[in-house]
Amino acid sequence: MNTNEIFAALSGEVYEIQIARGDKMNALTDAMYGSLVEQLNYADNDTNTKVILLRSDNQHFSAGNDLADFLENDFNDDSNVVKFLKALARLQKPLVCAVGGAAVGIGTTMLLHCDLVFASADTKFSVPFIKLGLTPEGGSSLLLRQRCGTAKANEWLLTGKTFLAEEALNAGLVNSVEADIQSTWKTAMETAQGLARNSKEVLIETKKLLKQEYVETVIEVMKKEANVFAERLQSEEAKAAFNAFLKR
Ligand code: COA
Repeated sequence: MNTNEIFAALSGEVYEIQIARGDKMNALTDAMYGSLVEQLNYADNDTNTKVILLRSDNQHFSAGNDLADFLENDFNDDSNVVKFLKALARLQKPLVCAVGGAAVGIGTTMLLHCDLVFASADTKFSVPFIKLGLTPEGGSSLLLRQRCGTAKANEWLLTGKTFLAEEALNAGLVNSVEADIQSTWKTAMETAQGLARNSKEVLIETKKLLKQEYVETVIEVMKKEANVFAERLQSEEAKAAFNAFLKR
């Protein structure tokens, strides 16, 4: 299934989804989120799939939401980005992710829904919502603190600073740092194939136990975040920030 710059294929029992919009550093549009939702739901229900692997097909993971799209599309419960984040939060099968280059905004927050994350040493992470007049999304106001601690969550979300792979590793955002993007993809695929040697039922039950206590809480937090985010998107401050980037 290949649509809207999202490509996917089954490799053994690993369903690999690739983001392929290299000319825009894999900035994600509404249509791309729609395809990602389709792919995630397909893989989660596919009897031949045990593990899902998410990566891009080029050196960057994602420069976040397409900033032109932010100006053009409404943001509400029907938005594909909201459906994408909910699909990630509710995914039953293990999700492995390989990142490199730019991992901006949702390019970082979506990692909080991944079970294992492998990063290339060149990865530059950031959650720069505050610099754009926006607020945290994707459950990150809760999940970042839960995963990396209050100090890092506050620092990254309140300053919007860029941080490197080593810092992400030390904070527990990623599982390991690999030398380059090729070895990152290789490690992620080998790990996913390793997971897939276990029974599907035990993978699903293990993930369920790991997440059961907070899945519904995360969905609630996402709803609250989305309400504030939708308001912020309409602010003059945010629109000016998007236009400043687009008219550089
Ligand atoms: N939305 C739309 N287009 C984007 C984009 C985004 N989020 N991020 C990058 N692009 C596009 C650029 O417009 C450029 O396209 P062009 O060649 O047609 O002009 C191309 O991708 C390369 O980006 P560029 O900015 O030239 O690369 P860079 O190496 O100088 O900078 C970044 C890389 C990631 C630092 C910079 O692109 C950036 O800040 N992007 C915006 C990130 C962002 O704010 N995301 C939303 C978070 S909520």
